[in-house]
Amino acid sequence: MTGLPRGKVRGARIAALGVYVPERVLTNDELSQFLDTSDEWISTRTGIRERHIARIDQATSDLAVEAAKQALERAAVDAGELDLVIVTTITPDMVFPATASIVAHRLGATRAGAFDLEAGCTGFVYGLAVATGFVAAGIYRNVLVIGSEVLSRSLDWEDRTTSVLFGDGAGAVLVSPTENGSIFSFDLGNDGSGAEYLGMPAGGSRLPASHHTVRDRQHYMKMTGSEVYKFAIRAVADSCEKVLSDAGLTPQDVNLFVPHQANMRIIEAAAKRLGFKPEQVFANLERYGNTSCASIPICLEEAWASGRLQKGDLLLMTGFGAGLTWGSCLTRWDL
Ligand code: ACO
Repeated sequence: MTGLPRGKVRGARIAALGVYVPERVLTNDELSQFLDTSDEWISTRTGIRERHIARIDQATSDLAVEAAKQALERAAVDAGELDLVIVTTITPDMVFPATASIVAHRLGATRAGAFDLEAGCTGFVYGLAVATGFVAAGIYRNVLVIGSEVLSRSLDWEDRTTSVLFGDGAGAVLVSPTENGSIFSFDLGNDGSGAEYLGMPAGGSRLPASHHTVRDRQHYMKMTGSEVYKFAIRAVADSCEKVLSDAGLTPQDVNLFVPHQANMRIIEAAAKRLGFKPEQVFANLERYGNTSCASIPICLEEAWASGRLQKGDLLLMTGFGAGLTWGSCLTRWDL
């Protein structure tokens, strides 16, 4: 049992963390066997060396359930105690019903509401903000936020400009009440004028599936990488500055900065603009690629397990992605 009686709720904390990553590892060298690319190009331009790929029988809900089970087990919270299940993803099992409905059912979360939240790769930070709002307001006590992606199914494996960048994985956090309110600052943003730079053109109401959309490969992710790159550096730095100044803090106060893992050059450029020292910045995209909504919780797990993230540390998380969206969250790590 986590948390306090409703009347005494003062805020929210991350009460548990769980992750799941598929076993199969796909290296840059393997990619270069069927794509006109190389380990040298991918690693110098992005920092990525390998990524995990889901089994053919695994969909986004399957990964999400595994990550969620680990979080619930660690928190010693029964799925029946969950009030809300939020799945953040850009690769849902299907357009509808929500992947969260399937996940909640499989977990046995019979009392919980469930919905998907789509905010590109910023989904995890958006989901954390929604969960924090519900918990801090005293509406709910146990909200599960799961970032889960099987991006390997939405990639055009003939397109070297996108397929080398992404991987599959899932991470879940349980958000529960606390007297101290350890999650204390958010910045969420959106600029839809950049919607054209990153997305999957067909399969929705604008361009329903047809022979032509399949022929033209429009059911795969399309990205104008250079535009997303410029946007990302600006958005990450601006959002971090805002969330820190709202809290009356500076980059020097941050123990660990965990940015969305898309490209090492983006992370380094943003960190440099913010004046972070290398030991303040966490990155693991070398081994996972960009896992979209799962990238931040997968980093948290590794940082926590290796001792780089410790109880009481000031943690800054920042996401960016399709929309174009961005978002930051400042919290004291409480595990
Ligand atoms: N292997 C070899 N060559 C390649 C590859 C590849 N995999 N991909 C592109 N190239 C070639 C291009 O064709 C181009 O060749 P040309 O000069 O003959 O035309 C050359 O490499 C340079 O291409 P650029 O696109 O200019 O390379 P750039 O240095 O900009 O790097 C990259 C591309 C890595 C995609 C970069 O722009 C980037 O990281 N952008 C941000 C992407 C991102 O963060 N996306 C995730 C957002 S989160 C979400 O919501 C999903």
